[in-house]
Amino acid sequence: MEKRIYFAGGCFWGVTHFFKGVDGVVKATAGYANGTLDRQPSYEEVYTDKTGFAETVEVRYDPARVSLPELTDLFFTIIDPLSLNRQGGDCGTRYRTGVYYLSEEDEPLIRPRFEAESARLGAPLAVELEPLRCFYTAEDYHQDYLDKNPGGYCHVNLLSFRYLRLYQDIKALLGDEPDRIARMASAAALVSERMKWHWVGFYRVEPASGMLVLGPYAGPVACLRIGYGKGVCGTAWKERRTVIVPDVDRFPGHIACSSLSRSEIVAPVFEGSEVIAVLDIDSSDLDTFGPTDALWLEKIARLI
Ligand code: SME
Repeated sequence: MEKRIYFAGGCFWGVTHFFKGVDGVVKATAGYANGTLDRQPSYEEVYTDKTGFAETVEVRYDPARVSLPELTDLFFTIIDPLSLNRQGGDCGTRYRTGVYYLSEEDEPLIRPRFEAESARLGAPLAVELEPLRCFYTAEDYHQDYLDKNPGGYCHVNLLSFRYLRLYQDIKALLGDEPDRIARMASAAALVSERMKWHWVGFYRVEPASGMLVLGPYAGPVACLRIGYGKGVCGTAWKERRTVIVPDVDRFPGHIACSSLSRSEIVAPVFEGSEVIAVLDIDSSDLDTFGPTDALWLEKIARLI
């Protein structure tokens, strides 16, 4: 049975567009939520910032295909959850962030994702988590705005739209395949094919030797083994965090497998709290990777 959840994530144009691309979402509608007027407001009224409404997207979804915790995690990929009343180029209480639920039973499904995001960022979130008090659909011209106006204003990083497609396609491709090598091989091939990076692959932790050993990859030949704490990969393993290197020549101890690699990102693959592998990506351009890449590649690493 279809369910509904309400996401306020700054300007509703980009938020609507993003959720329309989520597998399992049936409909995403731009509107205004939790204001003080007890009637339909106009965009101009909401724009005064005096009506208490937040630009909000009603997401209708099939819970058999996408879960509420998953939708909440996806929502966190497109907002700055630490920013109060400001997202992208927009500021005002109408651009505050929030998740508004219809049923009290939804709150305990969402709350742990707020806690995980706060722990990840190491700071309290500026995102509301409240019951939906009211929701009014926005004017027609705000619906499907970025489909009608390609290239229109969008505060959501455009990379997020590519990563959403990639992430969902990897998830579908891996299905319930139990063999981890096969999962790594398929994921590396798909990431490489879509993103056209120089080298995409995995190094696996080999407990007996205490080293990383080369796993499935797509790209030119690479070194077979990397020590704990050595190079970018060994550092990500040791420090249990994603390491972004904008210029490999400036990273002390970088292991150069290919002279064409200019920048790099390495994300740990966890099983429970243990690092069992790293996802290593090299680019032939300088300064290729940023926080959006880190966030999505960590999500992809969790699929392994
Ligand atoms: N540059 C990596 C070694 C692996 S290659 O990039 C494929 C590092 O310093 O860990």
